[in-house]
Amino acid sequence: MDHASVKERDYLAEDPFALPLDKIDVGRPILFQHDAIWPYFERLRREAPVHYCDGGIYGPYWSITKYKHIMQIEANHEVFSSDVKYGGITMRDQMLDFVLPMFIAMDPPAHDLQRAAVEPIMDRQSLAELEILIRARARRVLDELPVNEPFDWVGRVSIELTTQLLATLFDFPWQDRAKLTRWSDVSTAIPGAGIIESDEQRKVELLECLQYFLTLWNERVNAPRRRDLISMMAHAEATRHQGPMEYLGNILLLIVGGNDTTRNSITGGLYALNKFPDEYGKLLANRGLVPNMVPEMIRWQTPLAHMRRTATRDFEFEGQKIHAGDRVVLWYVSGNVDDEMIADGRRLIIERDRPRRHLSFGFGLHRCLGERLADLQLRIVWEEILSRFGRIEVLAEPKRIFSTFVKGYSELIVRIPETADYRTNRLA
Ligand code: HEM
Repeated sequence: MDHASVKERDYLAEDPFALPLDKIDVGRPILFQHDAIWPYFERLRREAPVHYCDGGIYGPYWSITKYKHIMQIEANHEVFSSDVKYGGITMRDQMLDFVLPMFIAMDPPAHDLQRAAVEPIMDRQSLAELEILIRARARRVLDELPVNEPFDWVGRVSIELTTQLLATLFDFPWQDRAKLTRWSDVSTAIPGAGIIESDEQRKVELLECLQYFLTLWNERVNAPRRRDLISMMAHAEATRHQGPMEYLGNILLLIVGGNDTTRNSITGGLYALNKFPDEYGKLLANRGLVPNMVPEMIRWQTPLAHMRRTATRDFEFEGQKIHAGDRVVLWYVSGNVDDEMIADGRRLIIERDRPRRHLSFGFGLHRCLGERLADLQLRIVWEEILSRFGRIEVLAEPKRIFSTFVKGYSELIVRIPETADYRTNRLA
């Protein structure tokens, strides 16, 4: 599908408040790319919070748009399954000739066992060790930024920092770390939208990824267990016998989980502070606000717009009859601005009460495994930014990604004014 096709553009020209409810299709990547999705969700939350769309790029689906309903569905994994055999966790079913099992797309008990295999990466000792590395690397990346000239924050900061972190989590060869970014982008990209041209190309590149990671597996499976994700999988009972496609699936889960999400929170946070300059002012006056601001940025950005479940049997929910086999899409991006739970949700409010009350990390047994690490990385990045620079200026609207899943940016042009650079201030 061409991301700029006439049909897509037509959809952009519609009046969201005039469309009949049954014509609303929030699963249109172009609405996300143009940041035009909000009025549609507003209508669905108000008029049809459990909404059926019988069109849809990937087929018919239900949209769940209110915070409390998303939590209820996530809590009921027996009826609303994540299992890849029903289609998995995104609107698009997995390709039948290239099924990648992974624990985010499994139900208990397999899910719980495999998750437990890698969970130690987030324990206290791991995080303490990672904190030192993350801070040192953040300093290096920030110290090298140009002053008083425009540059792309996505490439220079967000991608660089998250890729470095991923390389550390996998103990991945440092010089090849850009491959991780590529594989992450390839696995979530829509063919024809700028990253890959076809599903065939995706397969070829992901099989290269598998080959690369198999070499690392073979090195580690016979060596003593270490504190990296590959070694943990190679030594845990639940994962050591996994087949190659399952190994690739779990690797991609960890790559995408740790990459796009944090990357887009780092970019989205800076963009949001520029959109709400009073909030930026409060932050510059009081760096102690960082720990409260970080979860608020993650809510505001909602880096993964949705997760999908599939009904395992007929089920009545909020007066609607959901049938066995139906796709049910949980729109975190809408739940996160549902005013029944979050007041004035489209605004970034860095002193918000209970800022962790949001859906960006999901809920229930699949709740994000990397939450504490994401929080840690963002906190360190902001502490280091604030100890160097004043207000970093966003010079133009960002370029957004053409996707209904990854809600993020491909470019954000910014400038660090000379007076805002601690290095120049010190010289002055
Ligand atoms: C701001 C950053 C992040 C956001 C917004 C985010 C978001 C999410 C969401 C929405 C889910 C699914 C939850 C559900 O279905 O209920 C998830 C699961 C997951 N995330 Fe994250 N994530 C982030 C960072 C990370 C990091 C740094 C990692 C580390 C590698 C990670 C690894 C995972 C894994 C492995 C799962 C699957 C958990 C399971 O199925 O039990 N995430 N994340």
